[in-house]
Amino acid sequence: MQIRVLTAADVRASLSMSAAIDAVAAAYSQLAAGKATMPLRSRVHTDKGVSLLMPAHLHDTGDFAVKIVSVYGGNPDLGLPTVTATVLAMDSRTGMPLALMEGDSLTALRTGAAGGVAARYLARKDAKTVALFGAGVQGRAQLQAVMAVRDISQVAIVDPFEASARRLAEEIAGWPKAPEAVVEPSPQAAVAQADIVLAATTSKTPLFDGNDLKPGTHVTGVGAFTPEMQEIDPKTIHRARVVVDQRDAVLAEAGDIIKAEAKIDAEIGEIVNGEKPGRENDEEITFFKSVGLAVQDAVTAAAVLKAAEEKGLGTVIEMS
Ligand SMILES: NC(=O)c1ccc[n+]([C@@H]2O[C@H](COP(=O)([O-])OP(=O)(O)OC[C@H]3O[C@@H](n4cnc5c(N)ncnc54)[C@H](O)[C@@H]3O)[C@@H](O)[C@H]2O)c1
Repeated sequence: MQIRVLTAADVRASLSMSAAIDAVAAAYSQLAAGKATMPLRSRVHTDKGVSLLMPAHLHDTGDFAVKIVSVYGGNPDLGLPTVTATVLAMDSRTGMPLALMEGDSLTALRTGAAGGVAARYLARKDAKTVALFGAGVQGRAQLQAVMAVRDISQVAIVDPFEASARRLAEEIAGWPKAPEAVVEPSPQAAVAQADIVLAATTSKTPLFDGNDLKPGTHVTGVGAFTPEMQEIDPKTIHRARVVVDQRDAVLAEAGDIIKAEAKIDAEIGEIVNGEKPGRENDEEITFFKSVGLAVQDAVTAAAVLKAAEEKGLGTVIEMS
């Protein structure tokens, strides 16, 4: 038995964001069609932290993986990150392990891709300007994903840690087809000009006032992941058509949705499958909320592994 081990650099070098968006669209499609097995996350508490086990199997594509996300508050004292993730990709025909990969890089890719799928179906075709809240790992990935599906010419970055925002603006300048990137201290000014608003922060309170959104804006939120957290205010949610990754998951976890008592119009997979419409006109405001699902990890891990095999990335280990 052989297993391929992929580092964070291998994961990043293997798969383009466009390919990840296609993979995650296929995951949402199968999930909405009842063609996915995705048990609830199980939590294992240890003395020092908690590890979450996230398994999923997709019936049509056969993708199968388990991600383990660990949150250990004392890790920084040991010189280690608080949150780490590891993914084991499995062969659904034999139950044998195929690959072990670094999970934070995979999470950024699949979370970005979720926003990319949403923008593909919900953002105006001519969307050009982005307001990006959160200059962290997920913010970068969200921006890369909308750039993969729309022709973005300008991005305003809002982050209370101005140094992070400035660093990201400088980094963006070096990207292929780079939009003009500016640091914007005013949430109101950023939102008022934006065709697409991306929220990828650790904030517990709303990032901007929904009254400031232009008609026709698409908003994606990936940050708030507990009922207490909130990035998007009720005004935005009540002005918008609300689309989610999975109803049960957001109703259990997403403070934005729970606090606003949001009316959920569709799961994104229903739109991918053509059961519900995507954007219907140039005036409607749309909001996509994702809390992140194991099906995204399974499809993205399978796509990463296939690409890594083709490119000869990673280290192959003989297990027996
Ligand atoms: N939905 C998903 O599938 C998914 C997956 C992974 C992570 N996440 C969540 O996404 C969030 C961001 O993750 P990350 O890894 O990028 O974190 P990060 O720490 O790298 O970056 C978060 C950034 O948000 C900024 N921020 C905080 N409050 C803000 C505010 N009011 N306005 C603008 N910016 C603000 C911080 O300064 C920081 O730069 C976290 O809450 C994380 O748990 C969601």
